[in-house]
Amino acid sequence: MPARVREAIVAALPRAGRYPGVGGDALLTALANGLDLPRERIIAGNGSDELLWLAGAAFLHTGSRFVWPRPGFTRYAAMAAAGRAESVPIPLTRSGVNDLAAMTAACAADGSSVMIIATPNNPTGAAATPDEIDLLLRTRPTGTLLIIDDAYHEYSQAAGLPDLLAPLRATPGPWLLTRTFSKAYALAGLRVGYAIASDPGLIRSLNGIRPTFNVNTLAESAAVAALRCREEMRSQVLATVAEREWLRGRLGALGLRGPVSATNFLAVDCGDPTRAARIREHLANTGVLVAGIDDPDWGSHLRIGVGTREEHTRLLEGLGRMHV
Ligand SMILES: Cc1ncc(COP(=O)(O)O)c(C=O)c1O
Repeated sequence: MPARVREAIVAALPRAGRYPGVGGDALLTALANGLDLPRERIIAGNGSDELLWLAGAAFLHTGSRFVWPRPGFTRYAAMAAAGRAESVPIPLTRSGVNDLAAMTAACAADGSSVMIIATPNNPTGAAATPDEIDLLLRTRPTGTLLIIDDAYHEYSQAAGLPDLLAPLRATPGPWLLTRTFSKAYALAGLRVGYAIASDPGLIRSLNGIRPTFNVNTLAESAAVAALRCREEMRSQVLATVAEREWLRGRLGALGLRGPVSATNFLAVDCGDPTRAARIREHLANTGVLVAGIDDPDWGSHLRIGVGTREEHTRLLEGLGRMHV
């Protein structure tokens, strides 16, 4: 965490005894200025997770279809399970990318659908190509609400992928783009994210059901300060990417390979779900935690977060002792 962000948190502490501004007021102003968008098209949240939850509550109705990538971030299944809309999970491609053509085809022609995509996707790490995104923006049925989960925005930028907001600015709504301070800005524990909408009406709908004080004083101060530390953030992202690629090479040498990642984690194929579970348990016994993927198509994979060289060395030593 950059020193200036730490200092901003400490400076905000005396104000922690009072209520924060409603809806992250100062953060909205900073975001609007930085993105050159009206404040009315932005909402801040208790992580982007809260904003996805609000979007589900506001926009999923009985009679609509909710099209989502499977496997995806756990919130999507929870949005679907809330039960109002018809749940339409669409399997990822074999490369771990959202199958945008299949997802578009699954949306109802009458515009009654809500589609969420994540590129790069969690838990596979893989991103759609700019051509695939362009096609999606041109062909989704009119009226379909498109939610783009851009949680790994800064990592996909580091991978040379285009800013998803650029084509969206020229795309008719309804659409919503969610981002977070949890990943590249490393503020996950403070819980702060934001969403940008095609029009203020969508933001008004979200604000209508938002918890009043959803962005707390420390989170807001940290996020505003973080926006002024973009250079530090970028160099941290590049360092993480370098470490990710080092780890990818070492895991590959052990036969553990997976989709190309544009995130801060790697998904690797262990051959079959039983072996994946065995490796996971063995690593847990050595104090190294990796995640399984609970999905019929991706159960043979493990999701490994990029950490420090020391953590990776422990991981590789653990794998070496298992003779994977
Ligand atoms: C794709 C994706 N979207 C959203 C989130 C939620 O992030 P947060 O609520 O911390 O902003 C995550 C967290 O892991 C994620 O991977």
